[in-house]
Amino acid sequence: MLVVSEVTVNHLYTPTGLTKTPKISWVLESTIEKTKQVSYEIYVSPDENFENIIFCKNEESSASLLIPLDFEMESLKKYYVKVRVKGNYGNKTNFFVTNFTTGIINRELFLGNFITDEKEEDYNSMSGRLLRQTFLIEKEIESAYSVTTSLGVYKFRINGDFVGSHILAPGWTSYNKNLLYQTNEITSFLKKGENVFGAHIGPAWYKGKMGFDENINNYGKHSGFYGLFLINYKDGTKEFLYTDENWKGFKSTVVFSEIYDGEIYDATIEKNNIWTTDFNDEDYNPTKKIDFSFNNLNSQSGCYVKEQECFLPKKIIRTPKEEIVLDFGQNLTGYLEFNLPETKLGETIELKFFEVLDKEGNVYTENLRKAKQTIIYKCKDKKDVKYKPHFTFQGFRYVEIVSFPTEVKKEYFKAIALYSDMKKTLKFETSNPLINQLHHNIEWGLKGNFLDIPTDCPQRDERLGWTGDAQIFCQTASYIMDTYTFFEKWLTDLKLEQEEDGGVPYVIPDIIDKTKDNWKEHGTHSAAAWSDVAVINPWVLYNTYGDIDIILNQYDSMKKWIDFMEDNSTSYIWSYKKQFGDWVALDAEVGSYLGATPDELITTAYFAYSTELFAKMAKIIKNEEDYEYYSSLYEKVLYTFRKKFFTENGEMTTKTQTGHILALKFNLVEDKYKEQTVNNLIELLNKENGHLVTGFVGTPYFCSALSKNGKIAEAYNLLLKEDFPSWLYQVKMGATTIWEHWDGINEKGEMWSSDMNSFNHYAYGAIGQWMYEDMLGLNFDEENPGFKHFYIKPNATTLFSKVKGKFKSPYGLIKIKWKTKGNNVTLKFTIPPNTSGTVIVNNSEKTYESGTYEINYTI
Ligand code: BGC
Repeated sequence: MLVVSEVTVNHLYTPTGLTKTPKISWVLESTIEKTKQVSYEIYVSPDENFENIIFCKNEESSASLLIPLDFEMESLKKYYVKVRVKGNYGNKTNFFVTNFTTGIINRELFLGNFITDEKEEDYNSMSGRLLRQTFLIEKEIESAYSVTTSLGVYKFRINGDFVGSHILAPGWTSYNKNLLYQTNEITSFLKKGENVFGAHIGPAWYKGKMGFDENINNYGKHSGFYGLFLINYKDGTKEFLYTDENWKGFKSTVVFSEIYDGEIYDATIEKNNIWTTDFNDEDYNPTKKIDFSFNNLNSQSGCYVKEQECFLPKKIIRTPKEEIVLDFGQNLTGYLEFNLPETKLGETIELKFFEVLDKEGNVYTENLRKAKQTIIYKCKDKKDVKYKPHFTFQGFRYVEIVSFPTEVKKEYFKAIALYSDMKKTLKFETSNPLINQLHHNIEWGLKGNFLDIPTDCPQRDERLGWTGDAQIFCQTASYIMDTYTFFEKWLTDLKLEQEEDGGVPYVIPDIIDKTKDNWKEHGTHSAAAWSDVAVINPWVLYNTYGDIDIILNQYDSMKKWIDFMEDNSTSYIWSYKKQFGDWVALDAEVGSYLGATPDELITTAYFAYSTELFAKMAKIIKNEEDYEYYSSLYEKVLYTFRKKFFTENGEMTTKTQTGHILALKFNLVEDKYKEQTVNNLIELLNKENGHLVTGFVGTPYFCSALSKNGKIAEAYNLLLKEDFPSWLYQVKMGATTIWEHWDGINEKGEMWSSDMNSFNHYAYGAIGQWMYEDMLGLNFDEENPGFKHFYIKPNATTLFSKVKGKFKSPYGLIKIKWKTKGNNVTLKFTIPPNTSGTVIVNNSEKTYESGTYEINYTI
């Protein structure tokens, strides 16, 4: 039996707010081997019953990914899509029906104003604001849609009910160039008669303290709200409503809120009936218009931050210092909800969030630096008190109950993990529980740092979109979850924030205050491995998800970055202000974060790698001229690298692990010197007693540089090391996420310097890529992106009796499982319909079409 088991539109399930050409993809499932699609039919209609077909496509084709629906879409309209396919055995599937809703296609509809009720003296205020208006609806409603966004973050309600489940919308973008709006269907929220529309806004990234310089009002001095509402009446007429100066506003019960510091909530100033028509807002503040160009408004049609998972406290700890602490057993990013039977006026609840206990088992908050991560709730006489923060989030495993009106009981609390809404795509399990925990920690590194933008860490006074971290981790993350729309959004900001000369900022959105002298000297953009995110991430996304749009959208930005490197190079070795080197490597000099590998080796290696990838992408989009130019540039950089960093005898001039890893991984070593180079790398490893001393740049590729050059046993030895420094050292120390430093907590239980010691930093989790590609064996094929054809190249070893994984590829579920018994390996795998996979083991290869197979071999 053949079925269409899911359909996505522009990578999303039932998106709302689509403004670009919808592209439809579907997944096929079949019980019959070697199933292929021979044709498909797609129908689009504005009605659920498909009575009025406005677009159809009927093609003899095996294509099932990102089929464009070229028809003219109207703004704020729901379209239904049905798809069915015919397989090579003559059978047709049932129709799979889905829908999507458009955003604002006709930009002239953007009318009304961004509004605020803040006055000049509120510039420094970090309180929440409530904005409110009533609308009279006199006719029967057919359907209705809202388009909302804010300067700050917001929650929008109609008649008291929250519209949309997004948290901290509109997220963090380069607001003054790109502000995202959210589209929702609001038909069921409205009623005939008076309706109350209201927004609660908080300062968050827009207005609150962010970045290294502790600046507030980074994007503007007033938080504000914008709404556009369309009501389609049953009589065929339409009405547009907008936010304007007739709305009223006032300070909310959230009297203080910031991303780093937390929130203060004052229940004593709660007002009744705000969301009902009985509420009298006559005496409240008038609102005024904020100038904000509608040209900067763009639609977000999915991948919103949402409440994703809940944790109950595992235990309540009383520390040696008598602190009362909740332990949730998992380091996560989100907030705490409490539900109390009763509170009394005058009581205060104070909660402090943190990641680890110190050596003695007491609360440890020093690594948060200046971030307060504190919630204060001022109580009033009330029954059934329920609270969770509105406009902030914390990175924590533990919560210190600093003050509490009653006995602390587990059942009062719930931790809620927040992250961007992405499809989970990988399940991975082995016979080694420590490796399973490592995979778990990698996954939670992702969950904790994919809160609207890819952050370095979620807890201290940083939480920034560091480009290097996002580059290093992109492929690993893209196996674990479908990151396409997440990175597509962030890369759009990268493009917008890129310097005129092509330089790529250290952090995106670029919050660094360039007016400060220290930054002028140090630089705020363009570091090797960091800025290469501009090229590497589109490449990863293209291969993993098969969407050429990411190359087209980012093409100019990528090219500008390569040109920047060329323009700033002398004889093909580039340099520019501050580099981060092999960040936090253990071979750094005492007191330095910069590993021992010289900057020029890293800049040149990445120059070569990014240029090679860019030339490939030029070819993919058939830009022959660029392909020629950048291929030849690549050859020149490669030649330079070989000349500069190898002696005539094929020895590397730099004797660091990372130097050798980059040369091997980026294929910069002449064939005749490969063996020598990998042997030298092993020597460097042996010098450290088999341990890595690499940082952000070398670590992700260490195992790969070994195993791809025939040193499989050595790669496994490295992965499986349990003592410091190693991935499993952290696991054995009880980590539930990935640490920033190999020795965030050393063997004596002492902390690394508190100036930079995050316990939720995904960078070293980039080893996931090796675990999924080289252990399990899942590999994409550049010639057939999106896993239309792929490779299964496991490195089975007697060190594991079992390794198995399931990956939800864009074409369907790929399953791989290998088991060992002595030297005998059983490899079982499933290839989804309409794809093929080539299995490479023991130097022999065979290609399989869809189905489930088992093969046996010896190692
Ligand atoms: C961040 C890193 C980042 C680095 C660059 C740190 O403060 O936490 O992850 O890549 O700075 O220097």
